Amino acid sequence: MENDTIGFIGGGQMAEAMIKGIISSGLYKADKIFVTEPQQERCDFMTGTYGVQGFADSEPVWTSCNTVILAVKPQIMEVVLSTSRLFVSPEHLIISIAAGLPISFYEDGFGQNKGCKIIRVMPNTPALVLEGASGFSGNRNVSKEDLLLCEQILGKIGKAVFLDESALDAVTGLSGSGPAYVFTFADALIDAGIKVGLPRATAETLALQTLLGSVKLLIETKKHPAELRAMVTSPGGTAIAGQHVLERNAFKGIIMDAVEAATNRSKEFGKS
Ligand SMILES: NC(=O)c1ccc[n+]([C@@H]2O[C@H](COP(=O)([O-])OP(=O)(O)OC[C@H]3O[C@@H](n4cnc5c(N)ncnc54)[C@H](OP(=O)(O)O)[C@@H]3O)[C@@H](O)[C@H]2O)c1
Repeated sequence: MENDTIGFIGGGQMAEAMIKGIISSGLYKADKIFVTEPQQERCDFMTGTYGVQGFADSEPVWTSCNTVILAVKPQIMEVVLSTSRLFVSPEHLIISIAAGLPISFYEDGFGQNKGCKIIRVMPNTPALVLEGASGFSGNRNVSKEDLLLCEQILGKIGKAVFLDESALDAVTGLSGSGPAYVFTFADALIDAGIKVGLPRATAETLALQTLLGSVKLLIETKKHPAELRAMVTSPGGTAIAGQHVLERNAFKGIIMDAVEAATNRSKEFGKS
């Protein structure tokens, strides 16, 4: 096994985003990336588009790579664990991006006594455009260097924060489920533009640019959202008239409730 190689079990959307990020940043060379993808057409696409090495089964990935990313749907993970168990050793750093499955699931699946190094990641869909937000956590066998490598890899598809595993339910509620709330807000802004008489295409352009520009302003100025809001809210003006409606209908409370509900749902999944 070499340190300059990385493997992916599953060559779907998330694996593609990560591969795109790590090749373009130079973190790994394309021919040092090994991908297991049983769907022949998809495997050909990945090897043809990115120059990675593709395989129908997982053995070459486990025997060639120290770091292996599990990028299959959670319901497939049981199969992956049973077909990979033979090849897994304590030298492997195993990073799973599957939603909802706790670290203990992999420890049990690979066998505790193997001393497996497991990192669990909760990414989100903007990773597909390399602007993801991920939380990650490792088991006791994972070293500082392993966590650093994981952070480097996740850094190629957005931002990543290290947390205790118990915090990953909150990560699921906030950033994991967050894109759904943002898409709902975007949809509402577009419909609102149409309601006040703008053509759909115009409403879409203005709403999306407003979202993008506002987030960029928050990030670049590092100002608190309330401070930036105060800057656009003049006395007796238009923004305060709109803001009043949001406040009266407990907009912030609704968002907090939504994140809390998603967090609680994630906890329920963890228990089952
Ligand atoms: N997409 C997101 O934005 C997102 C966000 C957060 C977390 N995640 C997590 O990321 C993981 C991957 O998601 P995804 O959207 O990339 O899924 P995906 O596009 O369905 O990719 C998974 C790939 O793995 C293949 N596969 C199935 N069985 C396999 C096996 N035994 N060995 C190797 N490969 C196998 C699948 O082939 P078939 O299609 O033939 O089954 C598919 O091509 C999931 O666990 C998901 O929870 C995704």
